[in-house]
Amino acid sequence: MSRYLLAVDQGTTSSRAVLVDTQGCIKDMVQRDFTQHYPKPSWVEHNPRDLWHTVLDCCRQLLKENQLKATDIIGLAITNQRETTLIWDKQSGEPIYPAIVWQDRRTADYCQKLAESDPTLEEKLQKKTGLLLDPYFCASKIRWILDNVPDAKQKAEQGQLLFGTVDCYLLWKLTDGKVHATDATNASRTLLFEIHQQKWDPELLELFDIPTSLLPQVQDSAYHYGEVDPQWFGGAIPILAIAGDQQAALVGQCCFQTGMAKSTYGTGCFLMLNTGEKALHSKNRLLTTLAYRLNGKPTYALEGSIFMAGATIQWLRDGLHLIEQAGESEQLAREVDINHGVLLVPAFTGLGAPYWDPDARGAILGLTRDTGIKEIVSAGLQSVCYQTKDLQKAMEADGVRPVSLKVDGGMVKNDWLMQFLADMLGGEVQRSKVNETTVLGVAYLAGLQAGIYDSLEDIAKRWQLDKAFSPKMSKDKRDALYSQWQQGVKRIQTR
Ligand code: G3P
Repeated sequence: MSRYLLAVDQGTTSSRAVLVDTQGCIKDMVQRDFTQHYPKPSWVEHNPRDLWHTVLDCCRQLLKENQLKATDIIGLAITNQRETTLIWDKQSGEPIYPAIVWQDRRTADYCQKLAESDPTLEEKLQKKTGLLLDPYFCASKIRWILDNVPDAKQKAEQGQLLFGTVDCYLLWKLTDGKVHATDATNASRTLLFEIHQQKWDPELLELFDIPTSLLPQVQDSAYHYGEVDPQWFGGAIPILAIAGDQQAALVGQCCFQTGMAKSTYGTGCFLMLNTGEKALHSKNRLLTTLAYRLNGKPTYALEGSIFMAGATIQWLRDGLHLIEQAGESEQLAREVDINHGVLLVPAFTGLGAPYWDPDARGAILGLTRDTGIKEIVSAGLQSVCYQTKDLQKAMEADGVRPVSLKVDGGMVKNDWLMQFLADMLGGEVQRSKVNETTVLGVAYLAGLQAGIYDSLEDIAKRWQLDKAFSPKMSKDKRDALYSQWQQGVKRIQTR
């Protein structure tokens, strides 16, 4: 009887369950979308029930369709949208507020006031956590829930509430409330975790006024977290790995050596560069984060996070109805000269790295009477590459340059986009054969824990190239286009 790893990917717009065989091949997958809630401008929420039930349904359907029982599963692995914040009641298990999604900007003012109250604070936070004082991370979101939900503060102080990122909430649900834990990669996105000593930081907990009792235990990314309660899948399944989705993609792309980098083009874009044992302190507003932690040993990464990549094309499709399907964007971009002069700056939810401007808002610039759909679609695609270029420049200014860039995510099917990316970066872009690097990465970690793979080197042998894109554009042309972008960004920046 074949046996499989079951990887769960709880993402921003959908949940997926994926069967991975012991060779690291994806056998089958079930996906469910769920509703996004935008109760006010710049607020983004998920219903925790949707997160849990879509995960549960996907796993059940996957097992059923493949006629598998719990005993056929070697281990379950969880990867997740990071920073999204949940708080629930320890006794009843009920979340006290919807999940506040990573894209949510409601705490921008709070963060700004905190920064103004102490000009040295951001530097201090960055040294300890590798992050910046921004609404993106969990700390200010936790604070908001405690301040705005009736009785929450008091209940938190009495130890009646639990906090978790999505992985932690799913783990708690899967184990029927027996395990309250997270992994180091997810902990490193909270703004409360000291990444050098690998522990929750008492000074930061005091700063954000968050009781320690709220926090989960932090474990390695490959670790036996506990067992899935038999009520869910008719038998127990060991839970063997947890990692934030971008970190899981880094593992799925086998970027195990210092200098290797991956860029994932999903809703947003996240470029992550492995810096090995060294936590590199960025002077250019990039994030220092945990790449993975194995056997208590942390490996660090430098990360640039862009909030709008695929979501920009989604907006062209669903908001402006300029295209019917995302795939049409490639043909439209091919039909127009690249020098059309139209610029789309997709700061719909502010600007992420390296600008970190939560109040900036998007713009389309350079419109003329002959501007049409093609130019706007092309500008949307180009914006993804210009933003990646911003990250590359920031990394270079921090003294590191990726030795290779592996790409994945929904957008990388678009050859035009990949070529323009290589042109903009002035370096080779490698598209991997397997695009599902996030689930694959977390399944690899579970396989490592289960003893299916001996080492990271053993895993690395499995990586395969689909297509490499080399730069073809002249330096002058590249510089001219990129400088137009930089001018466009300046026009919408608020700080
Ligand atoms: O930091 C947010 C990121 O983890 C979300 O990823 O793939 O759900 O858009 P995704």
